Parts: sequence; structure tokens; C-alpha cells
Amino acid sequence: MGGAVAGAGLLAGALLLAAAAPAAIAQGAAPAYAQRYAEQCASCHGARGTSEMALVPHLGGQPSFYAITQLFLFREGRRNDHPMAAAMAALAKGMSDADLRGYSDLIAMLPPPAAPGGAGRDEARFARGRALAGKHHCIGCHGADLAGGRQVPRVGGQREDYLLIALKGFRSGVRLGYTNAMGEALAGLGEAEIADLAHFLAHFVAPATAAAASVAPASGAGR
Ligand code: HEC
Ligand code: HEC
Repeated sequence: MGGAVAGAGLLAGALLLAAAAPAAIAQGAAPAYAQRYAEQCASCHGARGTSEMALVPHLGGQPSFYAITQLFLFREGRRNDHPMAAAMAALAKGMSDADLRGYSDLIAMLPPPAAPGGAGRDEARFARGRALAGKHHCIGCHGADLAGGRQVPRVGGQREDYLLIALKGFRSGVRLGYTNAMGEALAGLGEAEIADLAHFLAHFVAPATAAAASVAPASGAGR
């Protein structure tokens, strides 16, 4: 899997970090980072990784590999398309490689956000967004359950206000991913289509997730 992005010099470090972090060692590191998360991250991202703050993303259930690449980008000052990105970058600046790994493994174990489901859902926009997500292969990479995996983020049930910023950032090229997958996926999409996609993702409920959530609320590591 590392081979696909071997040419991306700056990011090789993040990939090595991620490769050296099998999920099995997460158990050992988690308690210390659970404490540090509570002190340094929960005020914005929520105690269990479900954000209640405007524009701040949910973190629960993000694949560890995705989280570590993003913390790496913040630490390198390469992710700065968001009005509050400076706060994240300032925190990441002080992180060691072990910290990136510890926080990422913890994030993957936090429960995915409970989807708002029908609440606030506009059926016409939701349907348009769903059609766009099929047509533009969003599901091909992010999964039919939109839960992501490895370097691909979970996007189902994410906050709509945050999704809008992220999608606009990729489309305009201000947000650089570690590949151009998203820039290409969004090429040619207009403002209204981006907004419908964000609405669809935010209100998406995977049938399997809904069922699993009632049985095992903390099984966010998945896949
Ligand atoms: C002041 C509020 C604030 C605090 C405190 C904070 N964050 Fe963030 N975090 C944000 C915002 C806002 C973003 C989105 C920034 C962007 O898109 O550029 C973000 C993004 C992230 C992301 C990327 C999420 C994604 O979906 O791409 C990760 C991972 C993350 N934060 C981890 C942490 C960790 C770990 C801590 C504690 C060490 C922390 N954050 C503390 C506000 C905060
Ligand atoms: C070729 C695979 C691929 C396709 C197709 C794709 N994505 Fe992505 N997506 C990714 C990857 C990889 C990332 C992480 C990028 C990075 O490194 O920052 C991402 C990131 C995102 C994010 C940011 C999430 C966050 O927490 O910050 C959103 C939102 C998103 N994608 C939505 C979409 C939508 C909507 C579509 C369809 C129009 C789509 N994606 C199509 C691979 C893909």
C-alpha cells in the first residue's frame, strides 16, 4: 500500500509512521493518550470524538492511518485551508512521532458519531447528493458505508459545516491531500453540487452501522 504514494517525499515519513503502527500495539499506548486527549483535544472534538463545536470535525472511528497522515500534515504546516487550522497546527507542532501514533490509534478506537439520520434532512438534496456520490465514485473509495479505511477517511455522519469547508478546500486546491484523489474526484463540480454532497454525507446512515452501534458502541476501529 505504501508503494502507491512512494513518490510523495514529504509524506513518506507519515507513511512509515503508519506502517510501524499495527493496530495490535494500540492497546498498550491507549491509556496515556486517552488522558492526554481528554486534556488537550476533547474541548473541541468532544470527549468521545463527537464534536459539538461549529466547524470542528468529529474524529470518532477515523481510521488510524488517515488520522496520522493528517496530524503529520498539520505538523508540517501543510494543512491550512480552514479558519481554525492554525489552532490544530499549533498543537501538532509540539507532537513527537510517538504522539502522532498514540493519538491516531486512540482516535480509531473512539466510537463513530451517531448519525443525525432523518433530523434536519432535506430529502431532495439528500437524493441529489446520493446520486452524485455514485456518479463521482465517492463510494468506490470511501466505501458503501462511507466509513473509509486505511488512508481514506470516514465521511458518513461527519458534520455538514466541516464537510463543506473540506470539499471546497479540495476543489479549489487550497487543501492538499497526500494524493490528488480528492482534487480529481471534485473536478467540474459546482457550488450547489458540493453542498448537496455535504448534505448527503452528513445525513447518511449505514444500515449496518446503525445495527452495530446498538450492539457494540465502542467498535470504531473496524476494517
Ligand atoms: C481549538 C480547537 C481544537 C483542538 C483543541 C483540537 N483540534 Fe483537532 N481540529 C480542529 C479543527 C478546526 C480541525 C479541522 C482543521 C482543518 O480542516 O484544517 C481539526 C482537525 C483534526 C484532525 C483531522 C480530522 C479530519 O477529519 O481530517 C485530527 C486528526 C485532529 N484534529 C486531532 C486532534 C488532536 C489529537 C487534538 C489534541 C491533541 C486536537 N485535534 C485538538 C480543532 C481542534
Ligand atoms: C480515488 C479515491 C477517492 C475518491 C473517488 C473520493 N475520495 Fe474523498 N478522500 C479520499 C482520500 C484518500 C482522502 C484523504 C485525502 C487527504 O490525504 O487529505 C479523502 C478525503 C475526503 C474528505 C475529507 C474528510 C475529512 O475528514 O477531512 C471528504 C469530505 C471526502 N473525501 C469526500 C468525498 C466525496 C464527496 C467524493 C465524491 C465526489 C470523494 N470523496 C471521492 C479518496 C477518495
